[in-house]
Amino acid sequence: MNTQLSADGLWHDLRLLDMQALLAGELRTTPGVIAVQGGRITYAGPALALPEGLSTSGPRHDGGGALVTPGLVDCHTHLVYGGQRAGEFALRLAGASYEEIARAGGGIVSTVRATREASEEALLAAAAPRLEQLLADGVTAIEIKSGYGLELAAERRQLRVARALGERHGVTVKTSFLGAHALPPEFAGRADDYIAQVCDHMLPALADEGLVDAVDAFCERIGFTLAQTERVFQAAERLGLPVKLHAEQLSDMDGAALAARYGALSCDHVEHLSPRGIAAMRDAGSVAVLLPGAYYALRDTHLPPVEALREAGVPMAVSTDHNPGTSPALSLLLMLNMACTLFRLTVAEALAGVTVHAARALGLQATHGRIATGVPANFVLWQLQEPAELAYWFGQRPACRVVRQGRIVEGGR
Ligand code: NIG
Ligand code: FE
Repeated sequence: MNTQLSADGLWHDLRLLDMQALLAGELRTTPGVIAVQGGRITYAGPALALPEGLSTSGPRHDGGGALVTPGLVDCHTHLVYGGQRAGEFALRLAGASYEEIARAGGGIVSTVRATREASEEALLAAAAPRLEQLLADGVTAIEIKSGYGLELAAERRQLRVARALGERHGVTVKTSFLGAHALPPEFAGRADDYIAQVCDHMLPALADEGLVDAVDAFCERIGFTLAQTERVFQAAERLGLPVKLHAEQLSDMDGAALAARYGALSCDHVEHLSPRGIAAMRDAGSVAVLLPGAYYALRDTHLPPVEALREAGVPMAVSTDHNPGTSPALSLLLMLNMACTLFRLTVAEALAGVTVHAARALGLQATHGRIATGVPANFVLWQLQEPAELAYWFGQRPACRVVRQGRIVEGGR
């Protein structure tokens, strides 16, 4: 980790991305300044309107005319795990499908084996450099799921590592308990018994330890049924925890409509989402999290219904879905590019998708994904001429300075 200096003071000579215009579909910047005090933004806007007290107090930080956006939010990751699955990548290239590999005992369960064997220290050591890659792209808040332990002790290790990463790297981490990710081999043929274990033992214990911010599940032919997913949601509801869902990734299971009934923060993947699911999400205010990395890596051809989501006014977020099976992606900016090229989001939609809408998918909309008075200072200075370049380049790391949780981080990490 680089030396971290307080970001308090006045940031001047900035070109602020106009978030209001962004939500109206326009890419616009306005010259301005940001004042930070005690790690919080006390003013953001034109220099001329800066309240007098703020202009004189504290150090000055020269922005050098940089483009400034809110800190990016990566709202769907499986960052903590053991091993990797390059071998499966080769199998898929040779013609095997993700589902076939999973049914043959590979897929998620192979990462479960590696994760169960790994100590907390080993999981942390493996995840930290991955997190640093994401942070270098201007990420200031991230969701991290469990789901590769599938037994209490190993799920706990994943979630504890997620919390430790947040503290060590000074980044906002939201955890999701994904015990219902796959059926562990010791429960073969007894999926309902496993779900009972998830609902009655694992989730309550981990929630009690303060390790769970939200509850997720994989509702799919190779995951869990609609009825089993609902049992998980009921358990979450009993504990007052919000839910989200890996929904309609490989087939239409009607999972999104179920998740919406439980007020889901988000339904993620959604390639096979139905009009009924879209309407339910709209009514519930759930965010559709689009994951172009998984779509790309699986060489999927079934596009998510972007136009219908747009028409319905369902907010669309974009995330890496970083995981060793379907999306070994470590750049949120690359996902921004892919959301545009593969899913045909406009650049403005994709930028809203990694800021305001991603924050909402984590229940962080009051504090993250925007630059406003009173919110914690999380913003990024980019060495770019115009906002569209954020989606245009790929493989570049244009974040020059990141302010994360009120601290200055050069180059983002
Ligand atoms: O989001 N779809 C289920 N879960 C992950 C993949 C997990 C894996 O293959 O290891 C996803 O794509
Ligand atoms: Fe996922």
